[in-house]
Parts: sequence; C-alpha cells; structure tokens
Amino acid sequence: MDDKVALITGSGSGIGRAIALKFAKTGYAVIVNDIVQAAGESVLLEIQRDGGKGQFVLADVSDVAQVRMMFKETKKTFGRVDILVNNAGVPGAFSLIVDMPDETWQKTMSVHLNGTFYCLREAAKSMMTTGFGRIVNITSIAGILGTVGSGEYGAAKAGIINLTRTAAKELGPYNITVNAIAPGMVGTPTNLKLKEKGSPFIEIAEKGTPTGRMTSPEEIAEIVFFLSSEAAGNINGQAIRLDGGAAIDISMDQFMRDFLSKKSSFIKSVRRD
Ligand SMILES: NC(=O)c1ccc[n+]([C@@H]2O[C@H](COP(=O)([O-])OP(=O)(O)OC[C@H]3O[C@@H](n4cnc5c(N)ncnc54)[C@H](O)[C@@H]3O)[C@@H](O)[C@H]2O)c1
Repeated sequence: MDDKVALITGSGSGIGRAIALKFAKTGYAVIVNDIVQAAGESVLLEIQRDGGKGQFVLADVSDVAQVRMMFKETKKTFGRVDILVNNAGVPGAFSLIVDMPDETWQKTMSVHLNGTFYCLREAAKSMMTTGFGRIVNITSIAGILGTVGSGEYGAAKAGIINLTRTAAKELGPYNITVNAIAPGMVGTPTNLKLKEKGSPFIEIAEKGTPTGRMTSPEEIAEIVFFLSSEAAGNINGQAIRLDGGAAIDISMDQFMRDFLSKKSSFIKSVRRD
C-alpha cells in the first residue's frame, strides 16, 4: 500500500506543526494547511529537508468553498485522505461575557466550530469510500470546564467535543474513528515566550497544574499519532484531557476573574463596593 495521507489544519505553527512533523517522520504524506502562506511553506520545507513527503495548501477552514478546494487538491495529489487532524484555531480573546463583542464570538465559532465541521464532513465522505479513517479534533479543557474569560472559546471547543461524539457514532461502522484531545496550557513558542517574559498567566497555570508544567506540542503529537494508528481502532468518541491534571484546579479562574474585572468598565459601573 502507498504511504498513508494525513491532513493537519493550521499546521504552519505551534501544535499543528509538531503533529505534521511527527506524521512526516514516520512515513506519512502530509498536507500542511494554514492561512499564513510563509508559515505553511516553511513547515513543508522542514518536512522535505528531512526526506518526507507533503504538500502545502493555503486555505481558510472557516470558508466552506476553500475547505472543499483543499480536499480536492489532496485527492488530486495523493488520491485520498486517511487522517484528518482538526487543529486550526485562533486564541481565546480573554474577555468577560458582558464585555464580549459579537465579532469575537462569531470569529471564534467560525474558525473552531464551523472549520472543524466543514473539514470533518469532507474527510468523512472521502474516508467512507476507502473504508478507513482516523479523525482527531484538537479541543481544550476550556471546552470541558467552562473557564473565566473564555466564553466564546470554551463554547466552540465544547461544540467540537459534542460533534466528535456524534461523528464517532455515525462513522464508526465505516472503520473511521473520531476522537478529541483536550490540552490544558501548551508550551508552544508563543507560550514559552510569555513564560520567559515572566507572564503571571503562565505562572498561575503552571502552579495550578499538578505536574507543574505545560504540555509540549510534541507530547500532543504523540497522542494524536497513536489515536491515528490501526492499533487505536477501537478508541472512538473520546475527549482525552492532556493537561497534567490542571482541570481540577480553579486558581486560573480566580486570577482571570480579578484581572478581567479590573479592566472592565461594565463591571466597574455595576460594582457596589
Ligand atoms: N496553545 C495552547 O495552550 C492550547 C491549549 C488548548 C488547545 N489549543 C488548541 O490547539 C490548536 C493549535 O493551537 P496553537 O497554540 O498551536 O496555536 P497557533 O496560533 O500556534 O497555531 C494555529 C495555526 O492555525 C492557523 N489558522 C488560524 N486560523 C486559521 C484558519 N481559519 N484556517 C486555517 N488555519 C488557520 C494559524 O495561522 C496558526 O498557524 C488550536 O485549536 C487551539 O485552540 C491550544
């Protein structure tokens, strides 16, 4: 059989990049997708320099026409898609619900939730014809817990978890599994830079994590890779927390409530103390 084909959305940086490199190193043909051309092309170059195979497709996952074009391109080059990792995302806006502009809500929903749905639907149709597929959605512990300042982000990520469960039931009979990974704080280059600058946000998050540290992008890539294997064929419909146990702590919520309340003119206007 030819090499398996893995499509990783938003793989021009951070977690997606680590996942793309992991699949490429182990012999998969990798479709690197991003909306930032330079970032995506540079990951493809890394793959090719290491002797791997791949293609970069510039596409916005929140645009259904661009998603269809991406799957057409993938089919044209590699014939099919075996693995889909829905990873593309925009960071949470860190806003209390009372201060949240409509555009923030809509943007987050459209990239995370619509984007995951559009890609999952196209992948499912292709995988059902080949009789094999693995779909892994990157969600967040915010989508399990509800976290202060992440109303839009948590709701989108919770939607992804529910979509994962429904898709697992609908697609399981076709030898397609659908699972989600819910990371806590991840040591991406962005978060490592914040840590270097002494950000209290990272400090509180690490203090509230029983293992005392962020998860690395490579650790996430390992679990995604396992869930995508033949060996994981009976793990289906799960949302696996990868957070060092951080979901049991509320110090981050307390920190965010104080931090965002101090910035909020609405909260100041209603505060009676
Ligand atoms: N970093 C964390 O601590 C953390 C924690 C939990 C979950 N996550 C989730 O992991 C995923 C990756 O996050 P990251 O930290 O690596 O972020 P990142 O910003 O480093 O990478 C996200 C990538 O997605 C791309 N992207 C954004 N919008 C897109 C769109 N519409 N179409 C295609 N690509 C698009 C960006 O250009 C970027 O390259 C996201 O879904 C995020 O919500 C991150």
